[in-house]
Amino acid sequence: MSIQLFADRDPGNALIKLPISARRTVRWLPRIGDKFPDFSLDTTQGELRFRDWALGSWTHLFSHPAALTPVCTTEIASLASHDETWKRLNVKHLGISASPIEDQRLWHEHVEDIFEVDIGFPIGHDPMLTLSQLFGMIHDEEATGHAIRKSFILTPELRIAVMMEYPVHIGRSTAELIRVIEALQLVDATGAATPADWMPGDVALVPDERSETEVLRQFGALSRRIISYLRVVDPGP
Ligand code: BEZ
Repeated sequence: MSIQLFADRDPGNALIKLPISARRTVRWLPRIGDKFPDFSLDTTQGELRFRDWALGSWTHLFSHPAALTPVCTTEIASLASHDETWKRLNVKHLGISASPIEDQRLWHEHVEDIFEVDIGFPIGHDPMLTLSQLFGMIHDEEATGHAIRKSFILTPELRIAVMMEYPVHIGRSTAELIRVIEALQLVDATGAATPADWMPGDVALVPDERSETEVLRQFGALSRRIISYLRVVDPGP
């Protein structure tokens, strides 16, 4: 069996132009489980060395296309409005954008005034989009000169746990970000799995053959086997 990734001719035998991204050499394709590379950049809160700053917290590292633009405005206002949740979940946010620091600072003032929030997290300046390229945040067919909306959730050991990508004109969901981080933390603490549409407090899945004693110790409840390969546990309130 052979897998043809790119046909260079269509059925009419005309040459097919490959997307620009497919013509480039890929240096690093970020994958779940990869250790995130260290970097430093200038941010709205001063120079930041990523590893020193992020180690020990869950990190939401995200690109946004530009300061002083509508969708981005609502995204950072939404993140800022959940400050208590980020503290409870031990989450830090770091944005990356090509916009100059002065624009970002002015923009933060606007957002803080309009939405009555405090933007407590830094946004970094990536002037030549070097980091954004490396992290797969530049999708040439969607936008040129700035990033798409890409979010990495990193573990406290700085491994990639989740990646999410959105086009320029669709704002991300903070509720989904929180849901996924809560799921990651449950899986991390118990080795459980979360089913489709899981929300905090819902039934979790026991994906292995651990003993009931172990299940009781971890969840304070016994599991129930629905079929040989589907075992659920209700951690209760
Ligand atoms: C926005 O956030 O709305 C936006 C950003 C860059 C280009 C177009 C729109």
